[in-house]
Amino acid sequence: TATARLVELIEESERVVPFTGAGISTESGIPDFRSPGGLWTKTQPIPFDQFMASREMRDEAWRRRFAMEDYFAQAKPTRGHLALAALYRRGKSPGVITQNIDNLHQVSGIAPDDVVELHGNTTFATCLDCNRRYELAFVRSQFDELKGRAPDCDCGGYIKTATVSFGQSMPENAMQKAQEWTGDCDLFIAIGSSLVVWPAAGFPLQAKKSGARLVIVNREATEFDSIADLVIRQDIGDALSPLISH
Ligand code: OAD
Repeated sequence: TATARLVELIEESERVVPFTGAGISTESGIPDFRSPGGLWTKTQPIPFDQFMASREMRDEAWRRRFAMEDYFAQAKPTRGHLALAALYRRGKSPGVITQNIDNLHQVSGIAPDDVVELHGNTTFATCLDCNRRYELAFVRSQFDELKGRAPDCDCGGYIKTATVSFGQSMPENAMQKAQEWTGDCDLFIAIGSSLVVWPAAGFPLQAKKSGARLVIVNREATEFDSIADLVIRQDIGDALSPLISH
């Protein structure tokens, strides 16, 4: 089977780099973006320039974030997360490169420094000016007190979830680490991503170009299936769970 082949490829490899998208978290109840029922099928993202430009957009961004708190607060790592944590514990991988913002790789046991978050993290917030950290519960209590208005930082800056919005610059440290890991690996596994958002989608390509083998695990076809050494078009939990106990 395809999963047996994946296990073989992992055994043959020295350094495996998993790269994840929203699909690895759907089993935990967090919707992805582009599947039927995904977030971007229901609502349009708020680009960074719009967030910065209007108080109404900032209020709206926070309203949406709190509306999703039920998913995020209750989500537990999936079989996919547990499989990648097992690879990491065995020393097969340096960690994981993720586009996800849900913190579930950290919860599954990968050290925070070894989770390379390309699109940030939605479980806390920061001031865009002074970088002060804010816990979501605090922002929420302020938001409620202000009757649905986003609070600002004491320094006057805007408080935003620590995520990367469209139009916002990519985190330099994460980009650099992702480039290094990708260049150094001999097996790169893209899991649960439509691979349409750049620059993140460039990593599977970089891996292939630098000589690594490429595996894609995703329910739907992707742009890069044709260059992959193995495509597993299955449910991620089913495809990866043999790695948990391996
Ligand atoms: P997408 O929603 O674009 O893609 C998720 C992929 O996972 C889809 O192709 C699904 O078919 C697949 N999938 C979902 N559940 C699965 C399961 N249980 N088993 C197998 N496959 C499954 O999400 P991403 O590729 O992560 O960025 O999206 C990339 C970026 O677009 C996000 O980081 C976010 C979004 O806009 C920003 O907002 C900056």
